[in-house]
Amino acid sequence: MQATAIAQPNIALIKYWGKRDLDRNLPAVGSISITLRDLFTRMHVAFDEALAADTLVVNDAPDAAMLPRLAACLDRIAGEARPRAHIVSTCNFPIAAGLASSASSFAALTVAAAAALGRELDAGELARLAGQASGSSARSLFGGFVELANVGDDIEVTNICEAEAWPMTVVIAITETGPKPVGSSEAMEISRRTSPFYASWVEQQADDLAKARAAIAAHDFGALKSVSEHNCLKMHSIMWASRPPVVYWNAATLRCLETVRGLQADGVPVFFTIDAGPQVKAVCLPEAAGTVAAALRATDGVRNIMTTGLGPGARLEADS
Ligand code: PMV
Repeated sequence: MQATAIAQPNIALIKYWGKRDLDRNLPAVGSISITLRDLFTRMHVAFDEALAADTLVVNDAPDAAMLPRLAACLDRIAGEARPRAHIVSTCNFPIAAGLASSASSFAALTVAAAAALGRELDAGELARLAGQASGSSARSLFGGFVELANVGDDIEVTNICEAEAWPMTVVIAITETGPKPVGSSEAMEISRRTSPFYASWVEQQADDLAKARAAIAAHDFGALKSVSEHNCLKMHSIMWASRPPVVYWNAATLRCLETVRGLQADGVPVFFTIDAGPQVKAVCLPEAAGTVAAALRATDGVRNIMTTGLGPGARLEADS
């Protein structure tokens, strides 16, 4: 009744922003992401009939805040009458700061819980279960370049290009380490209800997805850069125009964008993307990684830099 799984966060290039079904947590739009290699969440799940309540330890400290969402995820996998669980999570990067820690957490939890229960589910079914907890976590079930498509009233998640087939490096500039002011689910609902740009965002997404899919198939970095930056800025424009406005950026976020634009002007193959937080992710071809990391490290307000390649999807740990 116990198992351990590991999953990496993913970064969306074509973003998921907005929900079409709140109960099932279904996204309003499809998305395309890259799964990272060197940032991880490891989850150990032990179901135990003797336990009176679920417990959670994150990075060696008891954590009550995250427990209800993890427990609800276990309920969906094992049923509400399930034995209580002891969950131990280890994460090697800042949690809830716009680095997709929920994506890797729920992907790892889903894989570990299914294995602990002896349930053999394919990656598509696991993705659906993880997606109900966190939409973006469905994509962390797969490695490399991943597409989440809306199909009928369901989602379908597929790998569209292996990590090794088109190597990329992601340089993450951390501009703030604390948790974000508004969670992504709440912010998405504010956007859906109040942003004048929301409807056209949903309408244009198919076009952005098609452009990104074609760029990835052709390994066309310039085309992927163009559609990814456009899609990211559209997502943030929706938030800025919401009531109340949702602004995840800080001054250093903007300075990082200027750094990336400066590199681009010098011919460096790099583009930026930003999620529901103030960190900037610079996606580049591996030969540019050193130059990009040095430039971002030297940018005023950047506290830390993390560099990672692309990696595999969520999987069981060998010893479980
Ligand atoms: O899955 P959530 O609720 O963490 O939302 C993710 C939203 C973005 O990271 C901003 C975009 C995305 O597609 O990952």
